[in-house]
Amino acid sequence: MATPSETTVLAALREVHDPDRGQDIVSLGLVKDLHIHDADVSFTLAFAGQSPATKAALHSSASRVVSQIPGVSRVSVKMGSAAPAARPQAPAHQHAAPPPADFIPEVKHTVAVSSGKGGVGKSTVAVNLALALKQSGAQIGLVDVDVYGPDVPLMMGAKGRPGMFDNKIIPVEAHGIKIMSIGLLVAEREALVWRGPMIHSAVQQFLRDVNWGPLDYLVFDMPPGTGDAQLSLSQVVPLSGVVMVTTPQEVALLDVRKALGMFRKLNVPILGIVENMSYFLAPDTGRRYSIFGEGGGQRVADEFGVPLLGQIPLEMETREGGDAGVPVTVGRPDSAQAQAFRKIAAAATARVEAVAALKLPDIR
Ligand SMILES: Nc1ncnc2c1ncn2[C@@H]1O[C@H](COP(=O)(O)OP(=O)(O)OP(=O)(O)O)[C@@H](O)[C@H]1O
Ligand SMILES: [Mg+2]
Repeated sequence: MATPSETTVLAALREVHDPDRGQDIVSLGLVKDLHIHDADVSFTLAFAGQSPATKAALHSSASRVVSQIPGVSRVSVKMGSAAPAARPQAPAHQHAAPPPADFIPEVKHTVAVSSGKGGVGKSTVAVNLALALKQSGAQIGLVDVDVYGPDVPLMMGAKGRPGMFDNKIIPVEAHGIKIMSIGLLVAEREALVWRGPMIHSAVQQFLRDVNWGPLDYLVFDMPPGTGDAQLSLSQVVPLSGVVMVTTPQEVALLDVRKALGMFRKLNVPILGIVENMSYFLAPDTGRRYSIFGEGGGQRVADEFGVPLLGQIPLEMETREGGDAGVPVTVGRPDSAQAQAFRKIAAAATARVEAVAALKLPDIR
């Protein structure tokens, strides 16, 4: 089949419109660094202030329209921001952009723990999931991508500063898990204003500049919502999948649907839903209270055709374990909570393997 021409690719990209600006992405000058090499097409979308949701939608549509051109077998779309100053152009003889560097070649699987809404228990799930995986004999790393509220060091009781060796950052270890967090680098919580590109480079540094060594799983604790951190992570690393945390109530589910939609657009496999704070068992009477309603996690899982990985009750030891730096999976391994987390870890592992077996080679 003939190599597609630049004109054909640009004509296809003209079908993709920025909904906010009402113009196609070629006219808006968002398409940069277009390279065509045999059946491989690569280009950058140089965004200029689009919302994360719009960026995700444009990225997904641009990949799709180009992949549908006859003769194209691989499409690689980078996301960049419009550079204020002109950068030197690539030499004319360089046709194909190099494939994105594999920053963590020794890491087998990468799992993001995300949610639509804040405060639903992402960090609690990320930390206990990481520990439950560790208890199954795997080597684990944990990255705190929440630059606004880095809770992982406190929850894991991680002390000390990351070291440096051979120009690489050595992560801090706690409970046998390697940890990296902005919280380990800045002493107090500073009211930093994180702009999109800063988040992007922080995420990149956590991978490229940290000596993770061989790991079975690298778990990412995400900030809430559908923002730059989610976008950057899915761009910087081919994620094995995302675990979505929600509480059962309807307002949380509304946000979860939005977040699931975003990950779908970014071609990140959804491993399943974890329903947290599912119910409260009164320690004195044993009575069960559905504080946040019932069945929400299952409903949203069914809607999206993904499994409900597990349900975690609301109870004090989980919160206390988090505050004390000894998560419930380690502090009370025989508790119902710890069992729930181990079940979730097993279900997530099985799903990572199933998704990997199904994954099409050119999905991203
Ligand atoms: N199942 C549970 N039982 C009791 N307390 C819980 C449970 N899950 C989470 N918590 C507590 O609720 C609070 C919020 O949880 P957590 O920090 O994990 O949420 P988050 O989604 O990461 O929040 P943020 O959006 O701020 O990052 C914490 O104090 C945590 O200890
Ligand atoms: Mg958190």
